[in-house]
Amino acid sequence: MTGSVKPRIDLPRLMGRIEALGRIGALPGGGVCRLALTAEDGEGRRLVVGWMKELGLEVSVDRIGNVRGIRPGRVDGAPVMIGSHIDTVATGGLYDGNLGVLAGLEVIAALNDADRVTRRPLAVAFFTNEEGARFAPDMMGSAVHQGALDLDVALAVVGIDGRTVADELAAIGFAGDAPPRSLMPCAYLELHIEQGPVLEREGIAIGAVTGVQGISWTEYSVSGVSNHAGTTPMAMRCDAGVVAARSAVAVREIAERLGGAQVATVGSLRLEPGLVNVVPRRAIFTVDLRNTDEARLVEAEGLAEMAIAEAARAEGATVTSRRLARFAPVEFDPAIVDLVEKTARRHGASVKRMPSGAGHDAQMFAPDCPTGMIFVPSRDGLSHNVREHTDREEIGLGAGILLDVVLQLADGDG
Ligand code: GLV
Ligand code: MN
Ligand code: MN
Repeated sequence: MTGSVKPRIDLPRLMGRIEALGRIGALPGGGVCRLALTAEDGEGRRLVVGWMKELGLEVSVDRIGNVRGIRPGRVDGAPVMIGSHIDTVATGGLYDGNLGVLAGLEVIAALNDADRVTRRPLAVAFFTNEEGARFAPDMMGSAVHQGALDLDVALAVVGIDGRTVADELAAIGFAGDAPPRSLMPCAYLELHIEQGPVLEREGIAIGAVTGVQGISWTEYSVSGVSNHAGTTPMAMRCDAGVVAARSAVAVREIAERLGGAQVATVGSLRLEPGLVNVVPRRAIFTVDLRNTDEARLVEAEGLAEMAIAEAARAEGATVTSRRLARFAPVEFDPAIVDLVEKTARRHGASVKRMPSGAGHDAQMFAPDCPTGMIFVPSRDGLSHNVREHTDREEIGLGAGILLDVVLQLADGDG
């Protein structure tokens, strides 16, 4: 059954799929908005499921809406899985997540063309709500898939628009019936854009990803007192907006003071009532803290907590907090990192071993099976930005390395 033709990535076919998926939810000035479980996400999912079926994959959907397509091997058993996500942030590009899923389909297409059956089965999967931009936490689908997040807790999550995961899954027709942990792979791989500046700056083609930094998301809600912007003396204000502003500056200063890998972002801020002539009575804002070092991340969390409490106290306001997401740093299997590096070098690519600054579905698999990721460069280091771009040659190189690594894992004796 194993053909003698060497399987090859068909780059125009892969780029055609990336562009076709990118037309769903396309934004007028470029970029894509396919927030998780919206109608656009549903349309994108149906397009990809159609491609999976055309390629002969046996498709199943689990209870959190993760979609898995299986290609049988010569032996039964756990598949080598290629996965990522197709949801985007509201200001997304064509590549974040989508590249990993569609390169997975291209691996299958290349094997089909070469009439090549691997020893182990293969799976291509896309996971619900990796971004976490509409429903927290991020990596929701892969966390449920691997049993790290309770299914019912995830289904009950209320998004930024007041809808629940369960209702929105049903609305787009992706509330499947396969339970969590119903498809445990023997190895997991993800091709992804770097989403940062390192590879481009250093002129390196491929990142062999060593792990993912820890992620901490918290939402703060500050209560002050609404009053007239013209009549309320400065000394008599209890301005929730000022507390949020001071907090944003404070968490940035904390990250700068801690240095190293520490980053901090206030990415969402809403003021109520949000009117030009009213002192805000409420401010709701998020803090995203990340570090490759868990102890430093815990330290940053403590410092942020104290600074925000102090900003509220100084204004006479009160503040409550709600954890949205918390993931410890993850290290990938050194053998897979070595395999990615060695394979990339065999393809003539320059390689750097590097941690990921962004969260990825791969991190949910790392505790359960050998896991690795392949990075390709991001132009100007931009991602979560409509100008996100990776050159097609870089995509072709990354997809070829993915194919080669998959074959070694699927046909190896281990
Ligand atoms: C997910 O994309 C994240 O890293 O925020
Ligand atoms: Mn991603
Ligand atoms: Mn993303």
